Amino acid sequence: MVYDLIVIGGGPAGYLAAERAGEGGLSVLLIEKRFIGGVCLNEGCVPSKALLYSAKLYHGAADGAKYGITVKDIKLDHKAVIERKKKVVNTLVTGIKSKLRKLKVTVVMAEAKITGRSSEGFTVAAGGETYTGSKLLIATGSVPVTPPIPGVKEGLASGFVATNREILDWETVPEKLVIIGGGVIGLEMASYYNTAGSKVTVVEMLDKIAGPTDREISEILKANYEKAGIVFKLGCKVTGVTDGKVLYEEAGKQCEVAADKVLLSIGRRAFTEGLGLETIGVETERGKIKTDDTGLTNIAGVYATGDVNGVLMLAHTAYRETEVAVNNILGKKDHMRYNSIPSVIYTNPEVACVGENEETAKAKGIDFDVVKLSMMYSGRYVAENEGGDGIIKILINKKFKNVIGVHMIGNYSSEIIYGAAMMVETEMRVDDIKQIVFPHPSVSEIIREGIFEYKG
Ligand code: NAI
Repeated sequence: MVYDLIVIGGGPAGYLAAERAGEGGLSVLLIEKRFIGGVCLNEGCVPSKALLYSAKLYHGAADGAKYGITVKDIKLDHKAVIERKKKVVNTLVTGIKSKLRKLKVTVVMAEAKITGRSSEGFTVAAGGETYTGSKLLIATGSVPVTPPIPGVKEGLASGFVATNREILDWETVPEKLVIIGGGVIGLEMASYYNTAGSKVTVVEMLDKIAGPTDREISEILKANYEKAGIVFKLGCKVTGVTDGKVLYEEAGKQCEVAADKVLLSIGRRAFTEGLGLETIGVETERGKIKTDDTGLTNIAGVYATGDVNGVLMLAHTAYRETEVAVNNILGKKDHMRYNSIPSVIYTNPEVACVGENEETAKAKGIDFDVVKLSMMYSGRYVAENEGGDGIIKILINKKFKNVIGVHMIGNYSSEIIYGAAMMVETEMRVDDIKQIVFPHPSVSEIIREGIFEYKG
């Protein structure tokens, strides 16, 4: 048979494409080589949140005295945390599989390779069979960047060095954990393993952690981490990994830090190797598949969504990109906008941002004002965050008086940011936001407080 759509890759971009296309009445084949749910569900976003929630509960108990609760003999049972994580992953993966079954999506668990075209469509080989699809959606995701740093390859092979994949399954907590890269993965794992008892050192090449995050917010996060005992080596480039240590360069000087285990988290890159893209002429640029704002590649009928197009490697970006692509496949006009995609770091405290920050707004020549407010202006925040140092920053376009960016550090930020994203997406003006009723008491009210603070 000829499928209406063949989807390669069963992560957030791929499984959602299959679901949406199935809902749209198309015959769909989904091919996945490892596991349905991809990195996000199995070894990324979801399992890391399960670990971080256990760490948060631990802190709740350990810091309980501030709130009138005293707990004795608190223990983080790492093995039990990992077991629970497996249960969480299993529940969600089972849910996706059953939805795919309900939508009559055919699922093949094998490695797919595009082999060319026939008169009926694109041909894809998997598990010894050849399948044909009128349209193709490539959602093969990304893999961790493994730099040519001496010792990294050997360390990965011996298990001394881990990526996001292995670290979520460690059965024991290393005494000394060195994390290479102070980005999202590095920070989230530093947070968990520090709570679980490791002595954590983060070695970061830049002079700040959390990549493109607002500098002030990144400094507050760092101060919180340092208070918890995490050591940061900023402006330090890793030059080697040997058994038992990580070597790095600091201001031209060679230094080293002892490690029982190392996490390599210096970014991810699009995965396209061995996919057979050349057999149908799909264009790539520095390893990423080039697409337009509908997810379409240079070849009519071939789409690429999620990390593989390398635009913004986030699961929720993948969801929307895939919906845009499937809508276009179904004949509904839709296109992708990237200006209001929120980003969250699920540390404790959480960091969440959307839209322009001061640097990007300046670079674009936007005339803007910044309102900065302590989270202490929110009653709920005060009630729940003894000694909290969270802030919110709201960027407002001076000319049109609309919100162009919101940046927060403080708990529940991850759950509040979508409201801010709606404001940025709809170019909501300050006067319109003043008419919105926020639930009281809630930390979300900090946005309302910030807007009323604006006197521009
Ligand atoms: P990242 O790009 O967030 O951070 C990598 C960091 O490593 C950067 O700060 C970089 O300066 C540093 N670095 C690079 N080479 C280095 C070297 N030789 N020595 C020292 N530092 C070096 O990448 P990360 O954390 O690996 O995450 C990968 C992807 O996963 C990201 O694209 C992210 O969007 C996604 N992700 C998102 C999450 C979320 O949204 N909460 C959670 C986890 C992952």
